[in-house]
Formats: sequence, C-alpha cells, structure tokens
Amino acid sequence: MLKVAIIGVGTRGVKCFGNMLKNRKDCKIAALMDTNPVRLRLAAELYDNPPTYTDLNEMLEKESLDCAIITTPDAEHESCAVTVLNHGVNVLIDKPLATSAKGCQNIIDAMKKSGKVAMMGFNLRHHPVLKKMKELIDEGVLGKIFLMENREFYDGGRTYMSRWNGRKSYSGGLWNHKGSHDFDIFNWFLNFPKPVKVAAFSGMNVFRPENIPFELEDGIPVGPRCRDCHYLKNGVCKAGFQEEFEEWGDEAVKHDGYIKDSCMYMSDLSTHDNGFAMVEYENGARVSHMECFVCGMSDRIYTIAGDKATAQISLHNRSIRITDRWEKSSMTYEIADTDGGHGGADPKLLDDFLATVRGERENKSTLEQGMISTSIAEAAELSKEENRVVFLRK
Ligand SMILES: NC(=O)c1ccc[n+]([C@@H]2O[C@H](COP(=O)([O-])OP(=O)(O)OC[C@H]3O[C@@H](n4cnc5c(N)ncnc54)[C@H](O)[C@@H]3O)[C@@H](O)[C@H]2O)c1
Repeated sequence: MLKVAIIGVGTRGVKCFGNMLKNRKDCKIAALMDTNPVRLRLAAELYDNPPTYTDLNEMLEKESLDCAIITTPDAEHESCAVTVLNHGVNVLIDKPLATSAKGCQNIIDAMKKSGKVAMMGFNLRHHPVLKKMKELIDEGVLGKIFLMENREFYDGGRTYMSRWNGRKSYSGGLWNHKGSHDFDIFNWFLNFPKPVKVAAFSGMNVFRPENIPFELEDGIPVGPRCRDCHYLKNGVCKAGFQEEFEEWGDEAVKHDGYIKDSCMYMSDLSTHDNGFAMVEYENGARVSHMECFVCGMSDRIYTIAGDKATAQISLHNRSIRITDRWEKSSMTYEIADTDGGHGGADPKLLDDFLATVRGERENKSTLEQGMISTSIAEAAELSKEENRVVFLRK
C-alpha cells in the first residue's frame, strides 16, 4: 500500500488525482497539503479526513510518505518538487515541469541528489489515440518524419482566461502551460532530437475590453466575476461561466482572494488567446503548434508527414488516417473510448507512476524531457516578446 500525498488540492489535485487514488486498492491518500486551509479542509472531507498541512516542510517531516503528486499552479512546481525530493520522496509533477528552463534544471539537480523517482505528468502520452500513433511511428509506418503540425482548439477558453493560467507569473505563459503538452508530443513522436530554433507569433486579439460582444447598459459594468455579472445573469453574455466555477465555494475565495471566474474580457491577462509556434530540430524535422482559445469546439488535430506516409489525427473523433505516399491508399483507425479523464489518459498516467515507484517499470516520462518542452515554450514566449527567431543552446 503506497502512501501518497497530494500537494495542491484544486481542480486537478482533487477531481483527477484525489478521486482516482480514493478508488485504488494499492495506495492510500496519506496526507493533503495546500496553502489555502479551506480548500484543504473541504478536500479532506472527501477522503476520510487524512492529515492536512498548509506547510509543505511540516508535512514531509511528520508523515512517512512513499510519494507525492504536485498539482499546484505551475509557478509553484519548482519549489514544491525540490522540497519533496530533498526529503527523499518520489514525486509526480503535473505538466509543465516548471515555468523556466532554469527552474527545470533546479528540479533535475534535486532529483539526481535524491536518487528518487521523479516523473512528468504528461498524460497526453497515455491518450489512446496518440499512444496508437506512437506505436505506428515506431513500427516505421510513416517512414522518416520531417514535418508535423497540430491545431488545438479550446472551446470558450474559460479555464485559461478566467484564472491564474492566463497570467505569466503563474504559468510562464500559455506556450508553457498548455503548449508544453503539445511540444512534448512532438518531441516524443520524433524520439527527442534536439530542438534548435523556435519562432512564435501570438497575441490577444479577442479577450480585450473593447471586444466585449454585446452592448453595455449605461452605468452597468461587466463582471468582475461571472457569478456577479449583470450580463451573464440576463443571458446577454454567452462567454462566461454558466455553471459552478469554484468547487470549494466562496469560503475558499475569502481566504486568498483566488477566483476562478474573473471576466475573460476584463482580466489582467498577460498571454495570448491565439497563435502559432514553430520549432526546427537538429535532425531537420519541423513542427508547428497552433493554439486557439476562441471557438466553439475542442479538438487537437494533427498532420504528420513522413517519407513513406502521412497521418491525420483528430483526438475528438478518436481517429487516425494514414495515407500511403506511393499506393495513395488510406487506412483509418477508429480508437475506442476508455474510462477516465482526458480520453482515458489520466488513470494510465497514475498507473504508470505507481508502477515506476514500485520498480516495476522504467521511468519513460523524465524530467529531462519535461525540461525540453518548457525550454521550447520559454523560447516561444521570448520569440513573441522580442519579435525574433530564438536559437536554443546546444
Ligand atoms: N495534465 C493535465 O491535463 C492538466 C490539466 C489541468 C491542470 N493541470 C496542471 O495541474 C496543476 C493544477 O491546476 P488546477 O487547474 O488544479 O489549479 P487550481 O487553481 O484549481 O488548484 C491549485 C491549488 O494549488 C493550491 N496552491 C497554490 N500554491 C500552493 C503551494 N505553494 N503549495 C500548495 N498548494 C498551493 C491552491 O490553493 C489550489 O487549491 C497545474 O500545474 C496545471 O498545469 C494539468
């Protein structure tokens, strides 16, 4: 029975990891840690009240833990992961590893000193469609891959634009927070060649005060929170949160002022709502990742070109279509749904981590790989800010 702690009991910590751990027979939630005591208390009630802590060092000193799962906002990953590893505890760090390459390196240094398992939470690698695609690539079905693109559409953009995710100081920017998933899939498909050049074009075209998509009534401002907003209540605003947005309610908000439903048009966002990021690798392969947070659908759509065949993928349709270059024939794989979050990927990520901690599997989702995707994301942010191509150091 592995004793597991969750650090950061927000949406991901509870709705994903807490709920999965609760139903497993091979481990138990041994402790919870969060800087907000209200979220902590309410989360503990869901799991038969394990010990709770607002201080990470205190938890690590008092509890004898096998592993910890870090699901704090991205900017806190570095200090939490270093502290956990310095206490000799195995750790799963949800993506992205950190908000800078330097931060990633600090975690890697702590991991090396500790000799413990430290794994990246790259759940997309466990998505059945992408897993199947990786198998086909490794079998050589596409031949040598030289070009890839993906287009990510995110319905409504709310999670990213209404809370910390859209603020660079918390997430390192959306190329890191969101794109680190996608850059990792490219790196994984290509078997991790070194990225050498990054260029990004991105901006905030829509979620600005001047783009509010309805007429304001005299003297009645929008927001600031969806739940208080006159225009949402009147059904004029279609963009905001219609449902419950803070799982822990106002009591938690009162404690730290962290709200999850600030108006997307009026927020002090410091990131993009759309853009392209391109990467060139030392083996000559090129990739492009598009992010669009202003749309009425959610999907990741890929094209992967190899010298033998081309693949087209839709995660939403759970399909892979391979077209042979010479025969012009096509083969379509329809991949069945599996249970669990993110298309069935989340339970497989947890299985993988626990099996690796037990020594039953090799760690194939390493911090070094996490650092590569954050380095690409950091370069994409720099490219956009400085309006130039960024060359990554060898
Ligand atoms: N892999 C995925 O598909 C996926 C999906 C969603 C989120 N995530 C990642 O999960 C993490 C959490 O995201 P979320 O949406 O659950 O955020 P959230 O805001 O809902 O929860 C974060 C929690 O961390 C707590 N916290 C803040 N600073 C802390 C600290 N220093 N120590 C301990 N707790 C602290 C907050 O009080 C909050 O309860 C992020 O890194 C995000 O990138 C990954």
